Amino acid sequence: MHETSQSHARLFYALWPDAAVRDALAALQADVRGRKVTPANLHLTLAFLGSQPRASLPLLESLLDKLPEQGFTLSIDSYGYFSKARIAWVGPSAMPDSLLWVYNALVNALDEAQVVYKSSAGFRPHVTLARDAERVEQGSAPSPAIIWPVTTIALVESVPVQGGVHYQLLASRSLA
Ligand code: 2AM
Repeated sequence: MHETSQSHARLFYALWPDAAVRDALAALQADVRGRKVTPANLHLTLAFLGSQPRASLPLLESLLDKLPEQGFTLSIDSYGYFSKARIAWVGPSAMPDSLLWVYNALVNALDEAQVVYKSSAGFRPHVTLARDAERVEQGSAPSPAIIWPVTTIALVESVPVQGGVHYQLLASRSLA
């Protein structure tokens, strides 16, 4: 049966850009062809939970407190393409340790809290620029790279709206 939006929410955790990084990411959308993500929706997903009972929200929000406090910087220096999903993206060409620590801490916290979700096979950090996209050359580099000082991790609800989705921040964690 389809879960109602009253009882359940479609959720994910993401690194949330500030206005300057968002503008810089949006500028890179000029380099790709496809159905572009609304600039207000640009983000980097850490974990996609899918449909979860709203009753779990306090627990899911509290997990943000279990993540490392230290902020870090991401160098968004590579375009990429997921052929099957037809997604054009940008992301870091190398996985920084700090990002892996945050990701591992989140996955461990979700496991410990026994949150049921379908975890993805591997973590491929990316910011989706466009869907139904034309192929972009994997590894080609935006110039200059975007330096993203990561200061916000958020629990986000994906809310269907006419013509797309709106991402609503339900809770966020500021990093030092
Ligand atoms: P994407 O950027 O690669 O499309 C909200 O849907 C966010 O969760 C998007 O960033 C999306 O990734 C990500 N996500 C990861 N797995 C997903 C799935 N199975 N279904 C929908 N979104 C998913």
